[in-house]
Amino acid sequence: MDLYEYQARDLFEKYGVPVLAGIVADTPEEVKAAAEKLGGVVVVKAQVKTGGRGKAGGVKVAKNPDEAYEAAKAILGLDIKGHVVKRVMVAAGARIAREFYFSVLLDRANRSYLSLASVEGGMEIEQLAVEKPEALARVEVNPIEGITLDKALEIARAANFEPGLAEKVADVFVKLFEVYKGEDATLVEVNPLVQTEDGDIIALDGKVTLDDNASEVRHPEHEELADKATENPLEAKAKESGLNYVKLDGQVGIIGNGAGLVMSTLDVVAYAGENHGGVKPANFLDIGGGANAQVMASGLDVILGDEQVKSVFVNVFGGITSCVAVAEGIVKALEILGDAATKPLVVRLDGNQVEEGRAILTAANHPLVTLAATMDEGADKAAELANA
Ligand SMILES: Nc1ncnc2c1ncn2[C@@H]1O[C@H](COP(=O)(O)OP(=O)(O)OP(=O)(O)O)[C@@H](O)[C@H]1O
Ligand SMILES: [Mg+2]
Repeated sequence: MDLYEYQARDLFEKYGVPVLAGIVADTPEEVKAAAEKLGGVVVVKAQVKTGGRGKAGGVKVAKNPDEAYEAAKAILGLDIKGHVVKRVMVAAGARIAREFYFSVLLDRANRSYLSLASVEGGMEIEQLAVEKPEALARVEVNPIEGITLDKALEIARAANFEPGLAEKVADVFVKLFEVYKGEDATLVEVNPLVQTEDGDIIALDGKVTLDDNASEVRHPEHEELADKATENPLEAKAKESGLNYVKLDGQVGIIGNGAGLVMSTLDVVAYAGENHGGVKPANFLDIGGGANAQVMASGLDVILGDEQVKSVFVNVFGGITSCVAVAEGIVKALEILGDAATKPLVVRLDGNQVEEGRAILTAANHPLVTLAATMDEGADKAAELANA
């Protein structure tokens, strides 16, 4: 889960990372009140889970509460790369002398952590990495040892922070790593980390990604950080039913068992769709090993709730779960759903007890169900029905 900047700011504060005061607000009036409360120059900042807010006009300096009000009017409702701004943070204005960059992230390829740092912040980091790669230090961080003060100094020196400054930023790097470790994050990024005219080091922006795998057991409190309002309602519903569902932009609903099979089903359906008006898979849905009636019904319920969906392709390979259980699951699911089931279903079964499973579906003779012998045939049929 990605956090909003204000949520990252709050976590930083909790771990002693130096940040400035910030107040979230949803209306220009609230922004004005927040600016009055903070006093002095403030910065009104769009709270969206995407980068490049500044360039898109989502970060504005305001010298007084009236200017803050006007800034809020311009920013609220702004569309930043498809994210509409509903909330802003009013931050105390910093007098910036210099801007730096720091991040620590999970480096899956090297089974390690990686820290990136640069004394030349301000620029977009992707751009810096391309245009001045020598200015961006990449330092591997041993996950067991973490960023100790020594390691932090090594990072600061590798990033060309001069003596005196290196010690100051190193202290902040250590604290930022404590956020990373303490919250089970996979990314903590500060761009810019600044030095003020008074010489203080402050995290002026924050991007934090939390590891969802850690949330349920280790951090039940992370649940509160989830943004229910912008979560896709179908994905939220699937989550409640314990399903692995990802909404995609297409017309053919997909149900399969096993992430690998579902992924290849998406490919095969996309390929088949090229012959049928360019229809595409509408979702990823892995019902896993226990393809019983209730799971099948929940899965179908979520998929049929997607207005874009015109047909559904159920592609199951019976392994531990036999095709009999899956077929019975489909029949019962259709019973449970009753009139809510309105879209054609193409079913391909294979594997354990396939003949018995198919016999159950044939006997049920449900008007919406078509049996397919192979995955290709099923994908083609489902694409054809979606395009009809
Ligand atoms: N509180 C603040 N006081 C003064 N200047 C600020 C403050 N917050 C941000 N700025 C200035 O605005 C610039 C952009 O801010 P910020 O990094 O938060 O947004 P961004 O980089 O455009 O967005 P993103 O990080 O999402 O790409 C900063 O580099 C900094 O110069
Ligand atoms: Mg930034």
